[in-house]
Amino acid sequence: MAMVCLSDFEVYAKKYLPKTTWDFFAAGADDGTTRDDNILAYKRIRFRPRVLRDVSVMDIRTKLLGTEISFPVGIAPTGFHQLACPDGEKSTARAAKAMNVCYIASTYSTSSLEEISAAAPSGFQWFQLYIHRNRAVSKQLVQQAEALGFQGLVLTADLPYTGKRRDDVRNGFQLPPHMSLKNLEGAFEVCKMMILDPSVTWNDIHWLQSLTHLPIIIKGILTKEDAELAVRHGAQGIIVSNHGGRQLDGGPATIDALVEVVEAVQGRVEVYLDGGIRKGSDVLKALALGAKCVFIGRPALWGLAYKGEEGLQDVLRILRDEFRLSMALTG
Ligand code: FNR
Repeated sequence: MAMVCLSDFEVYAKKYLPKTTWDFFAAGADDGTTRDDNILAYKRIRFRPRVLRDVSVMDIRTKLLGTEISFPVGIAPTGFHQLACPDGEKSTARAAKAMNVCYIASTYSTSSLEEISAAAPSGFQWFQLYIHRNRAVSKQLVQQAEALGFQGLVLTADLPYTGKRRDDVRNGFQLPPHMSLKNLEGAFEVCKMMILDPSVTWNDIHWLQSLTHLPIIIKGILTKEDAELAVRHGAQGIIVSNHGGRQLDGGPATIDALVEVVEAVQGRVEVYLDGGIRKGSDVLKALALGAKCVFIGRPALWGLAYKGEEGLQDVLRILRDEFRLSMALTG
């Protein structure tokens, strides 16, 4: 099967993954309205193309908080990569390094932070944190990430509780017994269950700052009010995200929320976006509306399901080439 666009990987993943895994990856909360709107919203946006502008040479590199990446797409944090391919997050880390993009490793990885970091030494990696009820667990993870050379701390702010994903409830979804949440093992055995702290507030950003020198990026912002609070609390980056529509159903598509966040921030911090990126032209639309970079969630999982590290590289390469072509064709 020729893999020409990201939907080809989606079709492959749906066909070959076990149903419960496919359902878990695909899930949106409730009716899936926001999940679907993340994609539909791009189809409502049109370019104003310019012509005769010499597009023979194009530079698609950019920088995230000072670190250069080869093009403005990264890997959003998603849990349980071993469900997609045997090497799990190690494959993800290698693919991201090979393509010189940023990989945000999830708290809910099925490989440990050490394994992820060792799989791609000197790769550009950020660590995504869910704050645990037992703060000692989160403190240790943050400090371990910094010691291992992760270059940023992404605090996911939109999951005080897990959204209601109907198929996961119907399937009784859980991690197969031979996989584990490696970052919550060992010293954390007692607290292995996913006990996230729903009492987290903006004040906890100061607590995180007291633990680490890493820049803090807040993921899950959708309004100008929260964007302003993020800046005021010293965040260095914002990811406009609705968790791929897996949390609150009925919120805006991320590309629609981007504009008010960019306007509120006024260039004081970098603004990124995830949700619904499926084509290079989607990347360009997000950049044109003010995002510095975008991240992909499900498409990365489809690439891993197709051929592990190589499959994820294929996904990234296709997005990169489509992005470059869109830039050229819009002048
Ligand atoms: C996620 N997402 C997510 N976010 C996060 O901060 N930590 C996590 O562990 C996870 N886990 C996770 C698992 C799966 C299967 C999915 C699909 C998503 C949300 C993710 O980072 C991102 O916001 C969305 O996936 C972006 O939307 P697209 O690209 O999937 O449309």
